[in-house]
Amino acid sequence: MPDIISRKLEHVEIASFEDIEGFTTTLLEDVRLVHQAFPGISFDEVNTKTYFLKKEINAPIMITGMTGGKPELGKINKIIAEVAEKFRIPMGVGSQRIAIERTDARESFSVVRKVAPTIPIVANLGIPQISKGYGLKEFEEAVQMLEADAIAVHLNPAQEVFQPEGEPDYNFSALEKLKDISKFLSVPVIIKETGTGISMETARILYKYGFKNIDVSGQGGTSWIAVEMVRDQRIGNWKAESAKLFRDWGIPTGASIVEVRYALPDAFIIGSGGIRNGLEVAKVISLGADIAGMALPVLKRAIEGKDSLEAFFNRVIFELKVSMMLTGSKDIANMKKASIVILGQLRQWLEYRGIDFSTYEKIRRREFNHE
Ligand code: FNR
Repeated sequence: MPDIISRKLEHVEIASFEDIEGFTTTLLEDVRLVHQAFPGISFDEVNTKTYFLKKEINAPIMITGMTGGKPELGKINKIIAEVAEKFRIPMGVGSQRIAIERTDARESFSVVRKVAPTIPIVANLGIPQISKGYGLKEFEEAVQMLEADAIAVHLNPAQEVFQPEGEPDYNFSALEKLKDISKFLSVPVIIKETGTGISMETARILYKYGFKNIDVSGQGGTSWIAVEMVRDQRIGNWKAESAKLFRDWGIPTGASIVEVRYALPDAFIIGSGGIRNGLEVAKVISLGADIAGMALPVLKRAIEGKDSLEAFFNRVIFELKVSMMLTGSKDIANMKKASIVILGQLRQWLEYRGIDFSTYEKIRRREFNHE
């Protein structure tokens, strides 16, 4: 198993230091929040608190799953967890497959709950592990390792096809099995992508199997195809050329949020993939997400140290509050109803996909269920 361990480290190294993000955009630049010159509130009144997994959190921002498996990676998890606890925002960990298979890898994950006793923590495994035989026992082990509040199950077909040792096995039987596991699991399941987005077709399939907590993880931020492209290049794998062709593949985050919310008005949606500041957090919330999610910018600051990560979240939360103030949104429920305009390419995408905007306006403001 040393190959998985070195792969985890290589992923973090490539993600942090190589050029693997932003080959195209999230299309959130096409979402404009409408300015309100008389917002009717004072800045001190703006309240960013909300609920996630039955716990109150200070801001609608989640740190989505990234790492664990080796002492160096445990140190990164510890820094992130300490800051997440201080800011009272939820945190996910990276795939725990390695810790299910090796007990010595567990500490790098369990440290998270030790230093973050009160926030929502999200465990992580992948759909490919179900195809490889994981069942309720392994899922419950991953949850207990962290005393987690939920488990994220990642979909990463685009990464798997370009990964030298990938296992792109995505048969419906895996979803059927996950449905059975989820019936007996002690915590809810969140289905998450890893940077290429969820379409309305996929959202409907997930819903049919009983899943309605969805982290869209759309395109515009970290590209896992680009990460695997770098790995392919390093070992001289011929797939590198094809990975380069596909590195901007996916559904932009802005489009993915609307597609999923339109298909599933009552889903819980984490709007992630390329979210880099508080204005984008405000945009995804007003576009239809319940909370926003961020991965790579958090990793980069955590590597610089705790102070850098704290400064980052202070800035992001300030920017979110500014966006709330200037749209006259005193709390997150009102931010979801803020007036927006969708322009440009995002508008074209949504029009072509058959989204009716007046219906969507009611759905995103949570005023209407059309299915
Ligand atoms: C990830 N991501 C990820 N997701 C997951 O479900 N399980 C995992 O093990 C990992 N591992 C991982 C490692 C590193 C180094 C990064 C940067 C990311 C994906 C992550 O949660 C997120 O969905 C994407 O990175 C898109 O968000 P950002 O990075 O654009 O904010």
